[in-house]
Amino acid sequence: MAMTRREFVQSMAAAGTGVVLSNSVFGQAAGGGDEINVALLGAGTQGRVLMGDCMNIEGIRFRAVCDIWNYSQRYASRRMKAQYKRAGKVDWANTINVYEDYREMLDKEKDLDAVIVATPDFVHAEHAIACAEAGRHVYCEKEMSNTLENARKMVEAQRKTGKLMQIGHQRRSNPVYQYALELIKDDDVCGRLTNCYGQWNRGVQPLLEWPERYVIPPETLKKYGYESMEQFRNWRWYRKYSAGPIADLGSHQIDIFSWFLHSDPTQVVAMGGSDYFEDREWYEDVLTLYQYPYTYKGKTGTARAFYQILNTNSYGHYFERFSGDGGALTISENPKKCFYVSEPGKELPEWLQGVEPVQQGGKPAIPLLAGIAKKNEAAAKAMEMAMEKNVHQMHLENFFEAVRAGDASKLSCPPEEAYKTAVAVLQVIPAVEAGGGVTFKPEDFKA
Ligand SMILES: NC(=O)c1ccc[n+]([C@@H]2O[C@H](COP(=O)([O-])OP(=O)(O)OC[C@H]3O[C@@H](n4cnc5c(N)ncnc54)[C@H](O)[C@@H]3O)[C@@H](O)[C@H]2O)c1
Repeated sequence: MAMTRREFVQSMAAAGTGVVLSNSVFGQAAGGGDEINVALLGAGTQGRVLMGDCMNIEGIRFRAVCDIWNYSQRYASRRMKAQYKRAGKVDWANTINVYEDYREMLDKEKDLDAVIVATPDFVHAEHAIACAEAGRHVYCEKEMSNTLENARKMVEAQRKTGKLMQIGHQRRSNPVYQYALELIKDDDVCGRLTNCYGQWNRGVQPLLEWPERYVIPPETLKKYGYESMEQFRNWRWYRKYSAGPIADLGSHQIDIFSWFLHSDPTQVVAMGGSDYFEDREWYEDVLTLYQYPYTYKGKTGTARAFYQILNTNSYGHYFERFSGDGGALTISENPKKCFYVSEPGKELPEWLQGVEPVQQGGKPAIPLLAGIAKKNEAAAKAMEMAMEKNVHQMHLENFFEAVRAGDASKLSCPPEEAYKTAVAVLQVIPAVEAGGGVTFKPEDFKA
């Protein structure tokens, strides 16, 4: 449901922007410059998304695929080869090697510059650290790890080796988010922030299955830490392999709270339940409340944040909202869900005035992209290019640009930053376990 280029251009026309967009930016490969040799470690659902995105970035050349499941190995390597052949890069297609064990890959692939790690969370630390220690730059998916101890080891390995490490909180490289932050910080559209809200609501989904002819032998599963094929496929629901839905989805959005408030939380309380599904270990629904220090015009106060992840109902799907005494800004990876609603009496910046409002929840709201498009030409171009890309591609581009420049300061999500998010997210679990609040007894309600 992302906004198409045509819709975006129409929204700018509606906004009355005089910006003329050049067609030459479309279809142009991002990045450019020297060839970077990469390997994909973990070629499952997300690994394949990242693979497709990398293949849209100029000069990124896959040399290897590593995965313990031959289904994923075949799928990814065949797609890479076919795509390279279609592009006339036959030598690239003929030099992709496939591995089961990452250690063998790191030993044999002497020319690798970087590794894209998209394995389950419990092996991120092992994989990312081994790659950095072997002299490779690392792009590692979120959540950094399912334990803080391992997440900290990743930060230490990055510092020790000096290799670049990007963690996959891709909103950090998304111009929609970057401009939304600018609107809050520089244009003061929300005034003093008092509340943040985030949700990821998903309907009930069945457990994942696997084709019978691609069953992994039990000894191989055991060698890599899995107890069964069912656990291997549904690792997200098991405590051994994951920190559950709050880490899986919440990490993306709780990351935005700290980024936008420019602070780390001082407190979290939470409730979560594993009482809906009978076949899963982790809490399916989690509701959390945070307190953050928030400095506005030199004075530090408190902003409170509510976050929820539901696996039992999808209404409203996913977005984040920042509310203050001047207005509320709603943002999402789906650009159609980005709106600004001002509080009565709030004076709008000149470039937001005259943008045609739409109705949102019974209030006139300014579609954020139309507003940003009116701000300036650079903003409009960045937005337009973002519309053309998958959200992960922009984060990969940021990583490869930093690799090419040999400059870790260009990374939009280095491990120290992601570690802070891991602390905020993973501490939800002890918060749920600690309980808290006031417990009611039936007799309390009898007068
Ligand atoms: N940034 C995002 O928006 C986003 C979205 C989805 C998933 N993810 C992250 O991507 C990672 C992978 O998730 P997924 O949905 O693709 O899972 P998945 O189960 O579909 O894929 C995992 C792949 O890793 C392989 N694998 C497992 N253990 C391995 C090992 N020890 N060595 C090599 N390969 C191994 C599996 O065979 C499988 O092919 C997770 O960390 C997840 O949180 C990020």
